[in-house]
Amino acid sequence: MKRIYFDHAATTALDKDVLEKMQPYFSRHFGNASSLHTFGQEARQALDKSRQEIANILNCDPLEIIFTSGGTESDNLAVKGPTLAAFRDKLISKPLHIITTKIEHPAILKTVKQLEKLFGFEVTYTDVDVNGLVNLSQLESEIKDNTILVSVMYANNEVGTIEPIPEISKIIQKYKGKRQKNGSKLPIYFHTDAVQAGGYLDLDVKKLGVDMLSISGHKFYGPKGTGLLYIKKGTKVEAINTGGGHENGLRAGTENIPGIVGLAVALKNAQESGDEIGKKVSSVRDYLIKNLTKKIDGVILTGHPEIRLPNIASFLIERIEGESMLINLDLKGIAVSTGSACSSGSLEPSHVLKALNYPPEKIHGSLRISLGKENTKEEIDYFLEVFPEIVDKLREISAL
Ligand SMILES: Cc1ncc(COP(=O)(O)O)c(C=O)c1O
Repeated sequence: MKRIYFDHAATTALDKDVLEKMQPYFSRHFGNASSLHTFGQEARQALDKSRQEIANILNCDPLEIIFTSGGTESDNLAVKGPTLAAFRDKLISKPLHIITTKIEHPAILKTVKQLEKLFGFEVTYTDVDVNGLVNLSQLESEIKDNTILVSVMYANNEVGTIEPIPEISKIIQKYKGKRQKNGSKLPIYFHTDAVQAGGYLDLDVKKLGVDMLSISGHKFYGPKGTGLLYIKKGTKVEAINTGGGHENGLRAGTENIPGIVGLAVALKNAQESGDEIGKKVSSVRDYLIKNLTKKIDGVILTGHPEIRLPNIASFLIERIEGESMLINLDLKGIAVSTGSACSSGSLEPSHVLKALNYPPEKIHGSLRISLGKENTKEEIDYFLEVFPEIVDKLREISAL
């Protein structure tokens, strides 16, 4: 059976070119980058080169890049690192305050919840509108004198909406200035989770105006278990992974050289071909959106109609269960995902779609199609051929 992969927001296949560049570092150049001998120095060179290449893309200093095991670890370091540093520097006069959005990935939401629960942090989960966009004036009104961190994702992984990161940065800069004038020592930092943005959006940290930015390798045809956190010089961060002095003392552990080489090659490839691939992918996505909404009644497109990633199309299919759609499509060889309850073992329907104000009965019918560079309009045609039959069959037996 022909198999079609429409789940690139979950993960992507490793590019052949990336694998080839990684391979020598598994065996021939296997050294530990901390060793002083030639084996070690070969690994060190690869590490430094990868860091420099990534710094060129992010428009930052190589020392501002901390390699991690992926988006989740980067997000954890971005949230916990500055708050631990504030404890270390004895800057706490009242509970620290963090602002984030209701639609972040659990790597952020569960991390801030942990700080809220265990250490009494105050957390504000700012609202988004029906399209998934943060409300700038609301966010500004939520900043307080004990706010240490604002974390807003660059692009949402379920609906694809792109948040106005440079505009949010301007607001934060204003507060940084106010703090300085007031003589307050407590910093206020701006972090963005750019895990879904890699390959499609500009990652220039200066243009974005962020203090920290998370990236994950496996979302743009790089290796799983690789990622990075950009940390702007001057941002006070305490390590979460303690041990050796790796990564500027901010992330102990022998560096994953093959993974880091793969991450750098994949990011370079993705950013270089991003515009071209973005155009191709968005034309396939628009073809899907146009034809799906034409072919089936009771289909709602979620996320912002224009300010969205080129590769994500997310729908609510009325009177139907997401899991049943997913399983029936899988039987036809098509891989998609759903934010309906029970997906990924969760009992709760998607927190993102809830935050966009959709009622639970509609969220049950959630369907996310996330495209990649290899998907074609012919594959969409096949999907459009088999999907209406699945919908008819499921609606006939649906209790919704
Ligand atoms: C927006 C976002 N943040 C963080 C993560 C976690 O990244 P990783 O799988 O590399 O830990 C994901 C993964 O889906 C994501 O989509």
